[in-house]
Amino acid sequence: MTPPAAKLALPELAAMKRRGEKIVMVTAYDAPGARFAEDAGVDLILVGDTAAMVVLGYEGTTVPVTMDEMLFLARTVVRAARRPIVIGDMPFGSYQVSDEDALRNAIRFFKEAQVDAVKLEGGTPASVSRVEAIVAAGIPVMGHVGLTPQSATMLGGFKTQGKTAAAARRVVEEAKALERAGCFAVVLEAVPEPVAADVTRRLTVPTIGIGAGASCDGQVLVYHDLLGLTEGHLPRFVKRYAGLSREIRDALEHYAHDVREGAFPEDEHTYEMPADELELFRLGEHRPEREHQPH
Ligand code: KIV
Repeated sequence: MTPPAAKLALPELAAMKRRGEKIVMVTAYDAPGARFAEDAGVDLILVGDTAAMVVLGYEGTTVPVTMDEMLFLARTVVRAARRPIVIGDMPFGSYQVSDEDALRNAIRFFKEAQVDAVKLEGGTPASVSRVEAIVAAGIPVMGHVGLTPQSATMLGGFKTQGKTAAAARRVVEEAKALERAGCFAVVLEAVPEPVAADVTRRLTVPTIGIGAGASCDGQVLVYHDLLGLTEGHLPRFVKRYAGLSREIRDALEHYAHDVREGAFPEDEHTYEMPADELELFRLGEHRPEREHQPH
């Protein structure tokens, strides 16, 4: 099937890598976020399982978000995003059990939310096998190696990966295995820059970095982090481009103050009615309906 006219074609990503054009990816979880990303010219939108933390209120873990919740969020993004490729992030539990299970859930994303592609974490033989099964069904898959938050407990927390020579080689091998399995791109999260640079050189598909340095073919950040909606500790790799949580807090405090002080609503926020109708209304009388017909 050819994508709708305005949709960025998937093979264009590898072409961008060849041309040395950087790929821009951001997460989004609702229609306004998708529209803002689209208008900013973003290439890829990830409906990330970070939704667990930044939207659903779970602290320090992406594990609890369910397939149904991800589908709900993905539908809102797909409705608003025309050009960017929308990727549904497969939540924990949706692909770990078996290839069949992974394929069934990838199909749900593809069919029920109409995402353009899915992403799953890990470069182990099991993850590679899941990628092969999903790609074989015609659904594009993005890989994700390095820090894979769904297995943060196994990795000893949200920590940089690939810091020893052996661990770095593992990251490289996993990324290569994901490319061989058919991934159209691979996210590299929280790995040292030289490791990301090495992976980027070895792969023909693009690498998308988050905490992986500037040599990746593209970059991704979490919407709430880059806009300053996330409060509290942020990883070193996040750059804040705005401070929206402060603005939102100030606006809500101002609104609450105005309501309590009677300063809102003002005349400009209030509807009027014709003076004669108001008088009749106050007298408790009705004018016959026909007098309301337009001339
Ligand atoms: O879920 C997510 O937002 C992600 C990005 C951080 C890559 O996986």
